Amino acid sequence: MNLTLSINPLNQIEADALIVPVVEGDAALPAGLESAKSWFDALKASGEFAGKSGELVILHQPAGFKAKRLVVAGAGKTLEPRTLTAAVVRSLKSKGVKTAALALASPSAGHVEAAAEGALLGNWESEKHKSKSDAKFLESFTIAASGDFEAALRRGRILGESQNFTRDLVNEPANLLAPLNLADRAKGMCLEVGLEFDVLDQDRMKQLGMGSLLGVAQGSAEPPALIVIRYKPTGKPSSTDHLGLVGKGVTFDTGGVSIKPSEGMEKMKYDMAGGAAVLGAMRAIAQLKPSIQVTAFVPAVENMVGSRAQRPGDIVTSYSGKTIEVLNTDAEGRLILADAVTYAKKQGCTHLVDAATLTGAIVVALGSINVGAFTNNDAMLNRVLTAAKAEGEKMWHMPCEDEYRDLLKSPYADLANIGPRGAGSISAAWFIREFVDETPWVHLDIAGTAWLDDNKPYMPKGPTGVGVRTFVRLAESW
Ligand code: BES
Ligand code: MN
Ligand code: ZN
Repeated sequence: MNLTLSINPLNQIEADALIVPVVEGDAALPAGLESAKSWFDALKASGEFAGKSGELVILHQPAGFKAKRLVVAGAGKTLEPRTLTAAVVRSLKSKGVKTAALALASPSAGHVEAAAEGALLGNWESEKHKSKSDAKFLESFTIAASGDFEAALRRGRILGESQNFTRDLVNEPANLLAPLNLADRAKGMCLEVGLEFDVLDQDRMKQLGMGSLLGVAQGSAEPPALIVIRYKPTGKPSSTDHLGLVGKGVTFDTGGVSIKPSEGMEKMKYDMAGGAAVLGAMRAIAQLKPSIQVTAFVPAVENMVGSRAQRPGDIVTSYSGKTIEVLNTDAEGRLILADAVTYAKKQGCTHLVDAATLTGAIVVALGSINVGAFTNNDAMLNRVLTAAKAEGEKMWHMPCEDEYRDLLKSPYADLANIGPRGAGSISAAWFIREFVDETPWVHLDIAGTAWLDDNKPYMPKGPTGVGVRTFVRLAESW
């Protein structure tokens, strides 16, 4: 989709639709729309439009405008340009609208950025594998705003496209996206945006002794890969800190021998959403060029059943040297993350954030609204939560106190990969923490938020791309 800015008077803008957000309680239309005043006054007086979120009224052939339609969109109590734009774009594209413009009354850089993101996010569909798709798309989107907003538009475009890149990866079925395919896609992205790409193959991982990751991978005919992507700022970095982004990349999770019920198992193609979010973030970071060093690590494996699969009770030796009793082969995410975070530390990362579709328990706790955020360091958590807030990604601080560590005691190994019933997301977080040790770290459990089960006005059901914007903002604000 073509994204542009316009400083033309609103009535001079040529488009299939001119979108005007109206905040609840606003008595009049913003400046520049005077010729539609009597129509709008009558609309409000009728009680059919109050500015509530979700309200949409379309006037065809508005007198005095070059646009073919005037679209007033309820914004609710406060304007949130990202979700509003995405929702309106979703609605308009389904009607066959091809070109749209958004009137921003008192625009800020933040609003322009968010509107650009919203337009891209709202224009995304998962129709790639349909031989005959009836999906309709917007071809161009203009933001009407006076002021110099080129940089804001660019950032919005990069973030929106990168989040959609992540959503495309997450949406890909596991037969078309095995670990090595994910590595290929990551490599292609790196070539496109100019990032250093590296991958550790199975042999290299064996040499290094990544027994925890390899234990998960051994049940699949698809070999594993540890994807490593390096971003180094040009010029002098703002600090000696080195941020590591780690993302769970299980391309399919059957549960292994501790097999999952078949009902709904097809969804487990999204078990690489954390890894995809990290890749999307790197795609944006390469273009936005923050001044801190960032390295991404995506352990990619397929968790399968078979005669070579690991068994409950197996004891593996992780890259860190710690031994693990694998009580449940379905708790595989933490096993691959353990070796990935150890590798990230050995690569010199001073601060770590991981994103993982780690537990069903976080879905029980927070549903599809909030990401669960766990930490060993409150200052680090603050940085992540501040970035998330600025980007409109909801995250909730979950406990990770010392008392919970005991849940992972094993009589036979240094630790077990699951705890007893209760606090399942916290014991999972603690498992990763055992390998992170003292390095400031935040763990984001995105099992509930990376995939929507139902359509929302601003997003279709399916992959959300959660995490991308927070990661990018975190690096930029360091
Ligand atoms: N990938 C799953 C977690 C998951 C569940 C993601 C539902 C998205 C939706 C993870 O590997 C897993 O299977 N976790 C187990 C852990 C249990 C065996 C301790 C779970 O949550 O049931
Ligand atoms: Mn699992
Ligand atoms: Zn999993």
